[in-house]
Amino acid sequence: MDSVKKGVAFSEFAGLNDEACLAQIAAAKRALGRRAVVLCHHYQRPDVYRFADYTGDSLRLARLAAETEAEFIVFCGVHFMAEVADLLSRPEQVAILPDLAAGCSMADMASLPEVQRAWRELGEALGEEPEQLVVPITYVNSAADVKAFCGARGGIVCTSSNAAKVFDWAFQQRERVFFFPDEHLGRWTAYRRGIDLERVRVWDPSQPLGGLSRAEVQSAEVLLWKGYCSVHQMFVPQQIDRWRAKFPDGQVIAHPECALEVCLKADWVGSTEFIQETIRKAPPGSKWLVGTEWNLVTRLAEEGAREGKVVHFMGGVMCMCSTMQRIDPQHLAWTLVNLREGVVVNRIEVPEPTASWARVALERMLVIS
Ligand code: 13P
Ligand code: SF4
Repeated sequence: MDSVKKGVAFSEFAGLNDEACLAQIAAAKRALGRRAVVLCHHYQRPDVYRFADYTGDSLRLARLAAETEAEFIVFCGVHFMAEVADLLSRPEQVAILPDLAAGCSMADMASLPEVQRAWRELGEALGEEPEQLVVPITYVNSAADVKAFCGARGGIVCTSSNAAKVFDWAFQQRERVFFFPDEHLGRWTAYRRGIDLERVRVWDPSQPLGGLSRAEVQSAEVLLWKGYCSVHQMFVPQQIDRWRAKFPDGQVIAHPECALEVCLKADWVGSTEFIQETIRKAPPGSKWLVGTEWNLVTRLAEEGAREGKVVHFMGGVMCMCSTMQRIDPQHLAWTLVNLREGVVVNRIEVPEPTASWARVALERMLVIS
């Protein structure tokens, strides 16, 4: 495969209508056969999701990337997911993100310099090297260099489906946890573990010492980075109350990136894969209110309607993962047609030594989950 050879420019695809793109994607996929695998996150738009060879939540997709034999892993998700695919696949395999602008706004809330500064300040407040006392845990929704930071300090990665196990592991190592970048997943996991929420403190990276007093830092068992998902922060408990008044026999299911008040009111809380499987296995006629991204809920509503299930979206307004939406048929067609012609576009490659340390943190997670 020639990455120097000049490929077809994106401008040739930008104006193509969806139908023409879909035909090009199908033809390029057929020609590439098993050389390319298309992995899609559950939030992906339907006109891209239909081309998935495999779908999943972050953990499932990470495992699939580690297992696939394909030369090219075309990741229809966001940037950190394609980085994980690169990190867990073999060196000769190539991870590709069809649009490099498909980032995750939550991951962007914790940059490596901010995390390094927080770690230094934490050490000053604790009066000891934080490595002795604190396990850094990063949600998989983070950049590879933040994962590497954790790997190099005895820390670990978690996803929404294994955060509880990762917390258990962390507390076997050290007495405190510093969790970034999602405040809400961290709080929910701490709550489920029975940790007194008085000992769970929010670290605001824009403030000196995270906006906390020395005493607050010293007494904290869990420090939570002040970060959030712009999609899941839209859900509020009142939406659940109103729905339950209308459908008293219905059930509520939410993603753990939702605020604690929402998770507390839900009957079920779990990853996108868990949400999908729970609703798929539910009996015909069951009714669901779902607190997660719109594309996934819409797909479940369409599927469920065929079995007489009622599936409603929790939000008052449509809230999609706008960055993941950037992976559209035009970008997927551009990527696959170039691959068919022998040109790699938008390769995601984590450099050394970041890659090795990030892998340490990811592999710790895979072993315990
Ligand atoms: P899942 O791991 O549940 O798929 O969540 C990823 C994500 O980014 C949700 O916003
Ligand atoms: Fe990131 Fe939120 Fe999109 Fe998930 S839904 S990828 S957390 S911006």
